[in-house]
Amino acid sequence: DSAAGATVPLAGKIVAISAGGTREPLDPVRYLGNRSSGRQGIALAKAALAAGATVRFIAAHMDVPAPAGVELSTASTARQLQVAVTEAARGADALIMSAAVADFRPAEYVDSKIKKSDDHADPVITLVRNPDILATLVADRTAAGSAGELPPLIVGFAAETGDAEAGVLEYGAAKLKRKGCEMLVVNEVGENLTFGTDENSVTILFADGAAAVHASGSKDEVAASVIDAVGRALAPARR
Ligand code: CTP
Ligand code: CA
Repeated sequence: DSAAGATVPLAGKIVAISAGGTREPLDPVRYLGNRSSGRQGIALAKAALAAGATVRFIAAHMDVPAPAGVELSTASTARQLQVAVTEAARGADALIMSAAVADFRPAEYVDSKIKKSDDHADPVITLVRNPDILATLVADRTAAGSAGELPPLIVGFAAETGDAEAGVLEYGAAKLKRKGCEMLVVNEVGENLTFGTDENSVTILFADGAAAVHASGSKDEVAASVIDAVGRALAPARR
């Protein structure tokens, strides 16, 4: 590679990055949300810009504003995010799904504010599954016809906690297989880990069997490692 190629590994590449957390409305004033701040997505966007990429940034709800220099689109619910991500992914070289997408939404939206009832009954909220944006794109890419339009490199983010059954990385490896994407950035989460903080520790898993990459430090440092892996995956001579 030339020196220029080494400093701008993503020159001429289009990278779509989703970030933040979706909100699923219950009524006009309430929603089901999550604690994603959007900071990791912003760090990814900055690293991709620094690497010379054109960045399409799809922002769900974030605590901080989107970075300058990106092509910005916004979404609130998972279904809106699916529309925006699918549009941004078309013609992109890579899609990085760092958004925290609600797996479920309230089955019904009540269009006036829900009141306490006089009988003091405990309310029950029924949830239904949201579409899996990433898995749908992987499936659509495989289907005849749209293959060339969708990114050859799709990167998922998985926030995992280990439990009695399996560890964080075992769950990550299983999720990488299940999702069918090329890379999965596995992130250990808990009350005081990751969400809303500046420190992070991740393991990047590759579907092609390449050795896992560990990265920890600030979200900027983690982002640099992820973008570096994206650059190597998109380089003409693979790893
Ligand atoms: N994702 C998505 N659409 C969803 C849920 C998740 O595109 N409805 C994406 C996330 O943006 C992330 C990846 O899938 O890049 C993994 O998300 P995660 O919540 O860890 O995976 P799930 O398949 O939802 O598994 P779990 O039941 O563990 O939440
Ligand atoms: Ca999920």
